[in-house]
Amino acid sequence: MSYERSVSAPDHRFEPETVWNLQMPEIRFGRGAVEELGFQFHDLGVEDGAHGLVVTDENLADLGHADRVREHLEDAGFEVDVYDDCEREPSLEAVGECLSFVRDEQGEAGYDFYVGFGGGSCLDTAKVTRAVIENGGEPLDYVAEPTGKGKALTQSNIPLVLMPTTAGTGAETSPVAILSVEEKQIKEGISSNHVRADAAVLDPTFTTTLPPDITAKTAMDALGHAIEGYTTHQFDDLLRADDPASRPTYAGRTPITDQFSEAAISLLSSNVRQVVNNGDDIEARSAMLQGALFGAIAGLTAGATLCHAMAYPVGNRYHTFHGETIAVLTPASTLGYNAASDPERFARLAEMLGADTTGMSTSEAAKEAKREYIRLQRDLNVLPSGLNELAGITEDDLDWLAEQTTDTQKRLLRTNPRPVTTEDVHDIFADALYNWE
Ligand SMILES: [Fe+2]
Repeated sequence: MSYERSVSAPDHRFEPETVWNLQMPEIRFGRGAVEELGFQFHDLGVEDGAHGLVVTDENLADLGHADRVREHLEDAGFEVDVYDDCEREPSLEAVGECLSFVRDEQGEAGYDFYVGFGGGSCLDTAKVTRAVIENGGEPLDYVAEPTGKGKALTQSNIPLVLMPTTAGTGAETSPVAILSVEEKQIKEGISSNHVRADAAVLDPTFTTTLPPDITAKTAMDALGHAIEGYTTHQFDDLLRADDPASRPTYAGRTPITDQFSEAAISLLSSNVRQVVNNGDDIEARSAMLQGALFGAIAGLTAGATLCHAMAYPVGNRYHTFHGETIAVLTPASTLGYNAASDPERFARLAEMLGADTTGMSTSEAAKEAKREYIRLQRDLNVLPSGLNELAGITEDDLDWLAEQTTDTQKRLLRTNPRPVTTEDVHDIFADALYNWE
């Protein structure tokens, strides 16, 4: 805002925010939804004969799932290539390889449409590929400073549809893509509404082949989004945006995100034991995929908080699986440190997780959320007991982790519901070394 405008127009900068909005891709959900993928692209204005790319990984290609997606698109009248070299927790270089593939095959203009198919890593690779092809340059141009150049994305007209095969990351609806920057040992997000897909197609039949450990780890990521979205600051805790375009991507919880959080926490916590023990239960798989979607709508609109901020340095240094890292850090961070921000809300959360809080005071019930969450993790029997078991992390590693968190994750820490210092982060990491003996 210029000085002239600030004196001649109403200045809202020092008032609480009064407006929230919810921006979402179109969502198509249910058994057989993959059969409607061709319709989805026609509906987005893609014409017969258009040439698209399915971005996926080797495992989904080997299972025949990628062929199933390709065949549905070909039957709908499109020409389709498949790129199946996505890596887990993609690095800048890995995304660069996908971009090189696109430029080698189709030149700078790229394909007519893109499908991201797989776990969050495949979806994020597809999101960045579409964004960079359309806006030009390289991924690092759009990563926030100082790691990247912090350029703004301005275009997102080439259709992108995302099909998750895990009930976890929420990448199918989120406005962010996470990349690891190897030489700096950090993870960075490209965050913009131009990263968001046009549509998400969720078909639970793809999730039944997930093994128990991946099922549990991705479920814990989904539950983390729902819990962080439920417990983050409220939208009107922030100052009013000067104009709608400057409202942050993660703008706080709202009445609508609360509805999605509450449904997600119940769906995920009441079905996760069943899908880990019996992966073929399509009803439970469907409930989990729905819970993950709702968790993403809530958490990745309202905003992830401290736990996700702490998880990125851990994942980048030790190459741990994102959902597993979230599982290990949630008790100490979201359910421990942050519980003091709003005990009544955390007491309600404990009940949603399945705890019996009858007769407890509000502050006791709030603490029960952490205990119930740990009981759930122990029941699953495939998750590590803390950072030490996760990656051999000890007290000696915590200074580096705490400094990395506060240095590189300002985007998430700024909106944590309780202010947090580097010393606080150090103590929270220490608490997460052993969640149980
Ligand atoms: Fe996550």
